[in-house]
Amino acid sequence: MLGRDRIEYKTVEQVRAMRRAGLVVADALDAVRAAAVPGATTGDLDEVAREVIAAAGATPSFLGYHGYPAVLCVSVNDEVVHGIPGSRVLAQGDVVSVDCGAVVDGWHGDSAFSTVVGEATDPADLELVETTEAAMWAGIAALATGGRLSAVGEAVEEVVDLAVAAGKNRGERYGIVEEYVGHGIGSAMHQPPEVLNYRARDRGPRLKAGMCLAIEPMLTRGSRHTQVLEDDWTVVTSDGSRAAHWEHTVAILPEGIWVLTARDGGAEALAARGVSVDALD
Ligand code: MF3
Ligand code: CO
Repeated sequence: MLGRDRIEYKTVEQVRAMRRAGLVVADALDAVRAAAVPGATTGDLDEVAREVIAAAGATPSFLGYHGYPAVLCVSVNDEVVHGIPGSRVLAQGDVVSVDCGAVVDGWHGDSAFSTVVGEATDPADLELVETTEAAMWAGIAALATGGRLSAVGEAVEEVVDLAVAAGKNRGERYGIVEEYVGHGIGSAMHQPPEVLNYRARDRGPRLKAGMCLAIEPMLTRGSRHTQVLEDDWTVVTSDGSRAAHWEHTVAILPEGIWVLTARDGGAEALAARGVSVDALD
């Protein structure tokens, strides 16, 4: 057990190094987003990310991770996370979630987005994507409160409840996936602590400067339960409902927070939530 629960607190210099990795991931995901059109294969998206990361002189962190065979995770419709890119062709109306990680000088960045390919065929799919993104930003904003880590899960669950109360998902409950959670990140992709996306009794560690956390809620239009497919990677919803996943890598700095995988540090999205960021520069 020794050391396994220990949080790696970063200096501001180390956070700056992490930002370089974060911005490579942001560039890769921007390029992938532009390429996620009807007729593209999930493997095409992987190729796009591979090229952006290589051109930046960075290293993809998923490739080879516990034997994972690709640069991206591309998860379509009922796939929640860890979908393996390949020959699958994206169609108009598909919900696609793209997760990407990169390493620069030994420091990691990790980020994901979901989108609907082309025009949505069901408005509830767009609501799913938007609610999941809003849940992520609420979780990120909660890091600025200086309280405890459990504030993230509380904020996520609150946004999800409010969305359904406002009629999203036709008023049906969203599932908040519990089997996969956010995490500390830094000199490794996955570090303590775990970051839950739901309310929990354990309040978790105190939020302190130097913590870097990947905030990554996963929502479904139905059950929160998931299964892993025969390929040992692809996670699907147990009821076949569609899912979305958003993620950013965030640093807690002495004077506030900074989103390392967003070009503006999250300034715009967080200002809308009453949180100002602590610029790294
Ligand atoms: N990016 C995932 C996470 O957010 C991890 C993917 S690991 C891989 O934690 F091996 F599947 F790529
Ligand atoms: Co992650």
